[in-house]
Amino acid sequence: MMNTMSLLSLSLLFIFFYASLAAQVTYNVQSFGAKPNDNTDSTKSILNAWTAACASAQPATIYVPPGRYMLSSAFFDGQICKASFITIRIDGTLVAPSDYNVNGHAGHWIKFERVSGLSIYGGTLDGQGTPLWACKASGRSCPKGATTLAIYNSNKVDVSGLTSLNSQMFHIGVDGCHNVKLQGVKILASGKSPNTDGIHVQLSSSVMIFNSHIATGDDCISIGPGNTNLWIENIACGPGHGISIGSLGWELEEAGVQNVTVRSVTFTGSQNGLRIKTWARPSNGFVRGVLFQQAVMINVKNPVIIDQNYCPDNENCPHQGSGVKISDVTYQNIHGTSATEIAVKLDCSKKDPCSGIRLEEVSLSYGDQPAVASCVNAGGTASGLVEPTGCL
Ligand SMILES: *[C@@H]1O[C@H](CO)[C@@H](O)[C@H](O)[C@H]1NC(C)=O
Repeated sequence: MMNTMSLLSLSLLFIFFYASLAAQVTYNVQSFGAKPNDNTDSTKSILNAWTAACASAQPATIYVPPGRYMLSSAFFDGQICKASFITIRIDGTLVAPSDYNVNGHAGHWIKFERVSGLSIYGGTLDGQGTPLWACKASGRSCPKGATTLAIYNSNKVDVSGLTSLNSQMFHIGVDGCHNVKLQGVKILASGKSPNTDGIHVQLSSSVMIFNSHIATGDDCISIGPGNTNLWIENIACGPGHGISIGSLGWELEEAGVQNVTVRSVTFTGSQNGLRIKTWARPSNGFVRGVLFQQAVMINVKNPVIIDQNYCPDNENCPHQGSGVKISDVTYQNIHGTSATEIAVKLDCSKKDPCSGIRLEEVSLSYGDQPAVASCVNAGGTASGLVEPTGCL
């Protein structure tokens, strides 16, 4: 009896030992030929590591050791994967080509598509966007630029401890995804860099973004059409254009935005704080069920703003007002300073006024002077201490 028992536990031990070995099967990009220097293009090697990891019957890990690896552009296709889960652990930096003509027309630099079950830990992505920003600033004709990290049509994706530097265009784009977690992300680009949104999310559900630091030239986080159950918490934003739901309502037929929570955010010197922005065009889009909670504004130009009359240069908005219906939006515990006199601006659609706007414990000042609220076509309630007053 004893013998049978110990034999059994011994064989169980072996099974666990081999199972854990197999579960840790690791593909080091250097063994596929990747070179940690700026001059050798490591694209093929890194893609080959992906193909090998994907083919694994066990969950697989791809490892990028310290060093700078040139990656011209990479499409990681999840459709070819057999492995139920892939982990990419990056101790090094992936560097985009400095010549923006290489990937500036492609829309994205590093793209994951149709992946189910992916973790990316650590790593720095250096988009080398500076020459493209300079091109755009010069008024010459230049490519639109690439999103540094695109995660498209995927689910169960977890990005943790990643740094994105100087993207050409957006830093991170999440589109058509379900169940995505971005945490401990650091995003850095000049406050003057054009279209360098930190994280853009659209047509996705159950996306969480937390514990992240975003300093960039456009929106820290932009929330496009078709997002539901989005959770954003503990973010530092600035410089940048704030956290923006929008722009929405460009299309006549457009998926709405529903159930968004944004809490514990500090905005420092940003152009906006909490913004909802819709084009002044007809649309069947909507925004409903938004909770903005616990925000600190430090010298923010537009701390609280709904702009339903967005129409830059008065082009493409034939005087129709926005059709996007905004309802059930709560601002709770919003404090700090505005860099302009109007700290609260709710400029809603004449055609479809905002409803169910709640201001609860909102107090904002303009330096050491009182700030002003300006509200048009906005319905709702104010409760607790609300300063500036006079809106709802
Ligand atoms: C709203 O979204 C959160 C996740 O962000 C989720 O936990 C919650 O259940 C959703 N609420 C509803 C009513 O769907």
